[in-house]
Formats: sequence, C-alpha cells, structure tokens
Amino acid sequence: MSTETPTAKTGGTGHYAVPGMAEGDGAKVAGMLQDRLNALTDLHLTLKHVHWNVVGPNFIAVHQMLDPQVDAVREMADEVAERIATLGSSPVGVPGALVASRSWNDYHLGRAGAIEHMGALDLVFAGVIADHRKVIEATEEIDPVTEDLLVDQSGQLEKFHWFVRAHLENSAGELSTAGATSEKQAARQAGADGETV
Ligand SMILES: [Fe+2]
Repeated sequence: MSTETPTAKTGGTGHYAVPGMAEGDGAKVAGMLQDRLNALTDLHLTLKHVHWNVVGPNFIAVHQMLDPQVDAVREMADEVAERIATLGSSPVGVPGALVASRSWNDYHLGRAGAIEHMGALDLVFAGVIADHRKVIEATEEIDPVTEDLLVDQSGQLEKFHWFVRAHLENSAGELSTAGATSEKQAARQAGADGETV
C-alpha cells in the first residue's frame, strides 16, 4: 500500500500503440476505456451489494439472478482493463482512484425490497449502457477492436437491464420507473407499484 494515488482519469500514459494505430489514438481510447473500467467495477460491486441487501417477496429470485450478472460484469471489467494494457496504457484498478475520478455517486439503497432495488438498478444500468454506447460511437473510426469489445458487452448489459426491467413492467409494457431521474425516485415509484410496499 502506498500513500500515492494513481491517476485513474487518463488510464495512464500510452507508451506504444497497436500496429496500424496512431500512438495518440491509443492513449485517447485507453482514457475512454478507463472510465468504462470504473463503471464496470462499480457495477459489479453494486450488484453484489444488492445481492446481499435484497429482502421481502421476490428475495430468492432477485438474489439468485444477480450472481451470474456479477460474474459477467467482472469479466467485462477484466476485458476492458486488458484492452487498456494492450493499447500501451496502464489500467487503474484501485478503489480510491475509481471514487476520485467517477462522475456518479454510490448506489443509494441499503436493505430494501426486491422491487425497490430493481427500480434503482433500472437507472444504474441505463447510465452504464448509455455511456458504453457513447464510447462505441467515439471508437468506431479510430479503434474498431475496442468498438467490437464494447458492442459485445453492451448486448449482455442490455439483456441484464431487460431482466431488471421485466420486474417493473406491466402487461401494457409500461415501466413503473418511467420519468424517474434519481435512484431514490425510481425505487419509490417501483415500490408504489410493486408488492413490497
Ligand atoms: Fe452470495
């Protein structure tokens, strides 16, 4: 352990690029990937937190649904970190640097009903997926290999998001979290519609 905190903002300096790629582009893509690494690490920790704190009706369904998602998102974080290293930069995986550089807050709910957690996770997944898509668009020209990696991950993340949203949807296809702009609001709206109130 050291008192120095590595910088997570840039993903470290690129010292070489993959063949056929401009050196500056390698570092630029690595910087974008560092933010994705932070988001994925945050997500798999948050999913485990929900796995531990979910209570009430639907407990076992949600508790057991989340573990395969934790494993898959952890694997995604590993892939992104290794892509950063492949591009010649240094992936930053320490928690203090993650917290210092992230643009979002910790997940807000502790012990809560399954439906409230699903409501909050709807917003969590929406944020991660939207940001993945931005990096897909930004890397389309300069690094199709990174683009391809993130496209594959987005397919999995969107499917997990559907698993969450299926708990919040009525037979007309309407989401109880519609219009919510914060996790707390989404959890409240989901709870008001769900069985756990
Ligand atoms: Fe467990």
